Amino acid sequence: MHLTHLRVHDFRNLATVELTPNPRFNVLVGANGQGKTNALASIYWLATLRTLRARRLREVVRWGEKASRVDGRVHRDGLEHRLGVALLDGQRVSFREEKRARTSDYFGVLEVVVFTPDDVGLVRGTPEARRHYLDRAIFTGRPAHLADVLAYRRALDGRNRLLREQAPDSLLEAFELALAGAAARLVAVRHDYVERLAERFERACAAIAGPELGARLGYRPSLPLDGAAPVESMAAAWAADRGRDRERGFTQRGPHADDLTFKLGERAARFYASQGQQRAMVLALKIAEIEALEAVAGHAPVLLLDDVSSELDPERTERLFDFLEGFAGQVFITTTDRAFLRIKGEQTVWRVHAGVVARQE
Ligand SMILES: Nc1ncnc2c1ncn2[C@@H]1O[C@H](COP(=O)(O)OP(=O)(O)OP(=O)(O)O)[C@@H](O)[C@H]1O
Ligand SMILES: [Mg+2]
Repeated sequence: MHLTHLRVHDFRNLATVELTPNPRFNVLVGANGQGKTNALASIYWLATLRTLRARRLREVVRWGEKASRVDGRVHRDGLEHRLGVALLDGQRVSFREEKRARTSDYFGVLEVVVFTPDDVGLVRGTPEARRHYLDRAIFTGRPAHLADVLAYRRALDGRNRLLREQAPDSLLEAFELALAGAAARLVAVRHDYVERLAERFERACAAIAGPELGARLGYRPSLPLDGAAPVESMAAAWAADRGRDRERGFTQRGPHADDLTFKLGERAARFYASQGQQRAMVLALKIAEIEALEAVAGHAPVLLLDDVSSELDPERTERLFDFLEGFAGQVFITTTDRAFLRIKGEQTVWRVHAGVVARQE
């Protein structure tokens, strides 16, 4: 699977960009603030319908303009697909094969894995950022995960509202059972995914930082998990929490308070890992994510690597390039200086300057 054509219109500082990417490596080179990350973000938007950095969707529209649009052609399993996404009058509209497509019918064509400097803070960052990462990674290989996440969030908002309104126990009880259904599904999927990731993560980490690091990945649920009766046990835990939750006015435990944990031996890496060890772990996590996705999808995702050599030290960057050498898929990688990148495979260099992307001959 790879992107054969990309057209961007009024997305961030990119007025009009049209390119025919290399099926292997695409190196986007340019000085700071020229639009390299924006170019990756446009591909990310096309693939996921989500914005990479924007808090509000309208931030993606080029200043002074009213609409943004990104279109792509994707070669996959011998077929060519067309995807498109636009922001028109403040509304996001998506197109598949030139027809308007609902979100649920849109995915399944283009899978991307992104690695940005922000990811390097994952080990030390907030549990919220790790959960967000986890759900995003799952969603890439399983688009239906988005619906599960939203269903849980809606149900959770519902319980929180009932808590604040001091609703009777009978009402909360009925609600908690429904909430537990959504929660159990979410936790099961996350658990499963982390399990598939963990072994790959450990292997990659050992290769990058040496086996003595003993890095491990895990999922820490905030509610005790009873595999035999997950729904009932969660509902029971919420019933037991009800008094305290009423006082606080929100649901304290549940999948919204779970965490993805990184450990060094028995210790929490977020407190003990050095900078270099954290970088190694995040790089290993990304490699594990890519490999897990390849194993499920049967082909490599498109990789979007934003300015990674600025955050990884030379040694870790070298390991990343070792990995890329064996990676079969399409890669978009940005840098301010080509000397940072040692890419041996077939490649096209794109110069990014003031929102214009031009092929370098
Ligand atoms: N909606 C928008 N309309 C126009 N320009 C925008 C918009 N949003 C961001 N920009 C501009 O885009 C530029 C940043 O682009 P981008 O983040 O892609 O740069 P970059 O090439 O990745 O730089 P760096 O090397 O510093 O990471 C900034 O000049 C910013 O002001
Ligand atoms: Mg950038």
